[in-house]
Amino acid sequence: ASQMRVDVSGVMEGTQLTILFLGKPVFISRRTPEQIASAAETDVDDLVDPISRNPNAEFDAPATDLSRTLPPYEGENTGEWLVQIGVCTHLGCVPIGNGAGDFGGWFCPCHGSHYDAAGRIRRGPAPENLHIPVAAFVDETTILLG
Ligand code: FES
Repeated sequence: ASQMRVDVSGVMEGTQLTILFLGKPVFISRRTPEQIASAAETDVDDLVDPISRNPNAEFDAPATDLSRTLPPYEGENTGEWLVQIGVCTHLGCVPIGNGAGDFGGWFCPCHGSHYDAAGRIRRGPAPENLHIPVAAFVDETTILLG
């Protein structure tokens, strides 16, 4: 009951699929090489919240771009897939995506929190990076949430 399979075969590069899981929006983003490169350039020492908060890997690892991404079913993880809970870590509004905000990721209009292309908080009142749900690819085009 607390798991959900999501078909991501229709998610084009540079777009985000938003679904509802356990009452919360989940952002499934298929990132472009440019978005990956810009997020990978960021120095972890510059981050407000320097830990990855990825329950699918080492939760307390440094919040590198790759540390927050979901590996594909097979092959090397290039950072193409980023799956996050679409709830601002300040007071719970739903951030706007599509490269919004000053860091090319998500922007929460409630009180002005800017998240980067890896969903890391960069400016504004939110204290933590966007949270990541338990998730895994179970075949090439299906993500299992929970
Ligand atoms: Fe997002 Fe306050 S709820 S900035």
